[in-house]
Amino acid sequence: MKFDKSKKLFERAVTHMTGGVNSPVRAFKAVGGTPIYIERGEGAYIFDVDGNRYLDFCCSWGPLILGHAHPVVVEAIQKTAVKGTSFGTVHESEIRLAEKIKVLCPHIELLRFVSSGTEAVMSALRVARAFTGRDKIVKFTGCYHGHSDYLLAAAGSGLATLGIPASGGVPADFARHTLVVPLDDQEALRQTFDKFGDQIAAVIVEPVPANNGLLLQTGEYLHFLREITRAHKSLLIFDEVISGFRIAPGGAVEFYEIVPDLCTYGKVVGGGLPVGAFGGRADIMSLLAPLGVVYQAGTLSGNPLALACGLATLEYLESGDCWRALNSKTADFAQKMKNDLKGKPVNVTAIGSIFWINLQPNIARKAEDLKPEDAKSYAAVFARALEAGIYLAPSAYEVGFVSTAHTGPALAEAADKLSGIIKSQQL
Ligand SMILES: Cc1ncc(COP(=O)(O)O)c(C=O)c1O
Repeated sequence: MKFDKSKKLFERAVTHMTGGVNSPVRAFKAVGGTPIYIERGEGAYIFDVDGNRYLDFCCSWGPLILGHAHPVVVEAIQKTAVKGTSFGTVHESEIRLAEKIKVLCPHIELLRFVSSGTEAVMSALRVARAFTGRDKIVKFTGCYHGHSDYLLAAAGSGLATLGIPASGGVPADFARHTLVVPLDDQEALRQTFDKFGDQIAAVIVEPVPANNGLLLQTGEYLHFLREITRAHKSLLIFDEVISGFRIAPGGAVEFYEIVPDLCTYGKVVGGGLPVGAFGGRADIMSLLAPLGVVYQAGTLSGNPLALACGLATLEYLESGDCWRALNSKTADFAQKMKNDLKGKPVNVTAIGSIFWINLQPNIARKAEDLKPEDAKSYAAVFARALEAGIYLAPSAYEVGFVSTAHTGPALAEAADKLSGIIKSQQL
């Protein structure tokens, strides 16, 4: 396989954009080599500038649940674009997408659209703080909620201590309002509430933690989060940017049958264009301007093109009962790999149409269970998969996504190839 044109483009890119990219993981630092430049996508496949074709398991990091350039999505965008790309006014598609979301997620009473998951989470936290009159939030190690200051915090030393900045440029004064605890550890969270209970505005969690491997939680633990937050009059926020409209029509709320106070969405809700949303209880959401005291706004929030893309995606998913088919083909794919890899120190975990190839034998439920050395073995697997025409996420701790365009035979072939590659590695 040749990557000459990609290499040349990257040489140009680094002279213009920091690190040559607009989001760090795209630089392939975690797997080595040069990023490949994608020219077009069609269904389950992407094609690079050197003419190579890959079965795409990244799917733009999750939004493309219908695959690339799905005809209904393309048509919706085209029909909208000819009427104008943005008005900065109210328009009917906002209501139509909001109504669709509320049908799929009946726990959402009021919502607001923004342009990214980061914005959705940042705004949800602000309204949670205003509602409770408290400043602190609790997040979990390994859960990612976008790149806003309060959420780029890491655990300080010891349990139930104040967070420290996890990135340059984050003031320590901001990070100390974020308490960071391990997932799947009821005692750690109890201690945190014992110490700071009356200062905690909200606990935010990815109910399907999918940003540091796939650290699937037990239903019991997620129910515990609901109980402890309620007992302390703190809010529970489910960050469903990945799980929303993906693992089930109503996301993790439907899957685990737990109703949080607020939810945040992104990715699938925009179908590949920039949409985020947050919503939940009307008494909380009514605090937002123009009704209430919490300021939140956006020039391109509720952008007509982006909402048309999101609406077409959700309508298509709903009309074809796509979730069931998607989930079952993903489960078959994961099971096939598991069977092929029996006896190898490898785990393949899946939920809905999300999967993760974990290059270690034990099932991980918290970030502390992961071993950094697995990343090295993953780099070799990634490179060989690329050569075999399979595009995995360029990081050991990123999950894979299956779309409606991934066919059963294509998945079975990919499972064979990936298992073969993994078996040939020294793990
Ligand atoms: C769970 C979760 N929350 C928030 C975000 C941030 O979303 P965005 O990248 O659209 O800002 C992400 C992005 O991957 C995410 O996975």
